[in-house]
Amino acid sequence: MDKIIKGEGQIVKVEDLSKTYTQGHEQILVLENVNFEIKAGEFVAMLGPSGSGKSTFLNLIGLLDDCYSGAITLFGFPLETLSETKKAELRRKHVGFVFQFDSLLPEFTVLENVDMPARIIGKGDPGAALALLRRFGLEAIAQKFPMDISGGEKQRSAILRALRNKPGLVIADEPTGNLDKHNARIVLEDLKKVNANGAAVLMVTHNEDAAAYADRILHLSGGKLVETSRPG
Ligand SMILES: Nc1ncnc2c1ncn2[C@@H]1O[C@H](COP(=O)(O)OP(=O)(O)OP(=O)(O)O)[C@@H](O)[C@H]1O
Ligand SMILES: [Mg+2]
Repeated sequence: MDKIIKGEGQIVKVEDLSKTYTQGHEQILVLENVNFEIKAGEFVAMLGPSGSGKSTFLNLIGLLDDCYSGAITLFGFPLETLSETKKAELRRKHVGFVFQFDSLLPEFTVLENVDMPARIIGKGDPGAALALLRRFGLEAIAQKFPMDISGGEKQRSAILRALRNKPGLVIADEPTGNLDKHNARIVLEDLKKVNANGAAVLMVTHNEDAAAYADRILHLSGGKLVETSRPG
């Protein structure tokens, strides 16, 4: 597993992915035979109405949900063949997740939050976390707690946390959802930088401006995923 060569080849391949939620006696088909691929160095945006299954899709790819039909291959590993332990290892070391809603741990400083993914795999290093904050111009808030920083700073800190273990894939669920134009642009520039450094980025957004940062734009609607444009 440590032999994963990041920055090369295919990062995610999804074949005939379907997902159904059961609510009471009702079955809700959210994803229907979805096919998708993202390669190293790509920045892909996904648009779609609220409730269309965007977060559901990201959670499946990001190994946060393993109840589906079809096939998902991550960094060349078919998930169906991996043990729970291996999947957890893959998620912790190679996937960075930026959640849709504020997810920093309130009782830890920004620096500690950013270092958390490394701590979890036994490689905590506040110096390295600080260097990351510095690289993105956020060192001034390193010692602050989440309740004492702005929404934009929270979202940017969450992005740096996702980057902490130098993942091959960064998944961002509406990272600019609650931000004004100025902060949204800063967050998008951050993600672009991440992408330029070699990580594949898969970003869900409601915002067409945000989608313009991507190499490819996909649209999820009625359970189906369609590639709507390929800018540039
Ligand atoms: N745990 C669950 N149990 C049952 N239904 C769920 C569950 N999670 C999501 N759903 C339903 O699945 C559908 C897709 O939800 P999802 O959160 O993936 O949408 P989304 O596209 O991310 O929406 P938004 O843009 O509002 O974040 C919705 O109809 C939602 O109500
Ligand atoms: Mg969502």
